[in-house]
Amino acid sequence: MTTPESPALLSTIAATREHVRAARAAGRTVALVPTMGALHDGHLALVARGRELADVVIVSIFVNPLQFGPNEDFDRYPRTLDADLAALAGQADAVFAPAVTEMYPDGASQTTVHAGRVAELYEGASRPGHFDGMLTVVSKLFNIVQPDVALFGRKDAQQAFLVRQMVSDLNLPLRIEVVPTVREGDGLALSSRNRYLSEDERVLALTLSAALRAAAEASVTPTAKPVAAALEAAQREFAQRSDVRLDYLVIVDPATFLPLEDDATGDALILVAARVGATRLIDNAPLTFTAG
Ligand code: PAJ
Repeated sequence: MTTPESPALLSTIAATREHVRAARAAGRTVALVPTMGALHDGHLALVARGRELADVVIVSIFVNPLQFGPNEDFDRYPRTLDADLAALAGQADAVFAPAVTEMYPDGASQTTVHAGRVAELYEGASRPGHFDGMLTVVSKLFNIVQPDVALFGRKDAQQAFLVRQMVSDLNLPLRIEVVPTVREGDGLALSSRNRYLSEDERVLALTLSAALRAAAEASVTPTAKPVAAALEAAQREFAQRSDVRLDYLVIVDPATFLPLEDDATGDALILVAARVGATRLIDNAPLTFTAG
């Protein structure tokens, strides 16, 4: 048995640009998978899709201070570079893992990307400045790697929406591919933050995916107010659990990311965020409402 080859580890912007230049000179197309590391099978699904879409896959691993609030988990966010490199052996061609000083030599960025009104809602309402910080680092990564395609997970649906919006608004020359959420067998969406959960909290965390399933089940029954009925079904799951603190639960139009009226029909997306102990988790699922 041969050991799968480890990805090239690139820690500087210059080395990354050189790696991409050589790939392009050889006529290869390039996919970028931006991550903050602590890789799991959700991240690896993005990498696998990247391999289908491009000749070379570059994974960035960077815990971006700009997208964390002052009371968030930047300091304790899991950093597992050795395990991440092992997980990517034979999967990715290169890993761009810069130090904070390589990305932000002055400690911060004077110039930032402002994400617009959808970024004030849901995740943005709970995490002020998060999406500006996210889009700022994502645009830096796009400019450093200049990929043909970049891959994002549906798990962070609002993030994927805002990245697509930025690419469209600013005419960025790449394609965005969004990959379905990878879940554990019992429904829990994979997340780097799941490793904060105790055994008991891990069970409570299932409330999020259970609420999404309850909404999906309710959505098949025709009623005059299908959106309201699906929301109520999802809310009931949380009402049974005082130890899971709901942050937001909303059904939005996937095209605009704005909340749907109670009587709306057609394609929808239900978004949920909740706190289990000290850990904040998010999830979402597509729904379709037919007229009652
Ligand atoms: P991170 O949380 O590491 O996620 C990296 C990518 O993996 C994101 O596009 C996310 O949606 C995707 N992902 C996470 N869990 C997933 C799952 N269970 N199934 C499928 N995809 C999943 O999101 C970020 O990092 C950062 O905001 C980043 C985009 C890297 C900018 O800093």
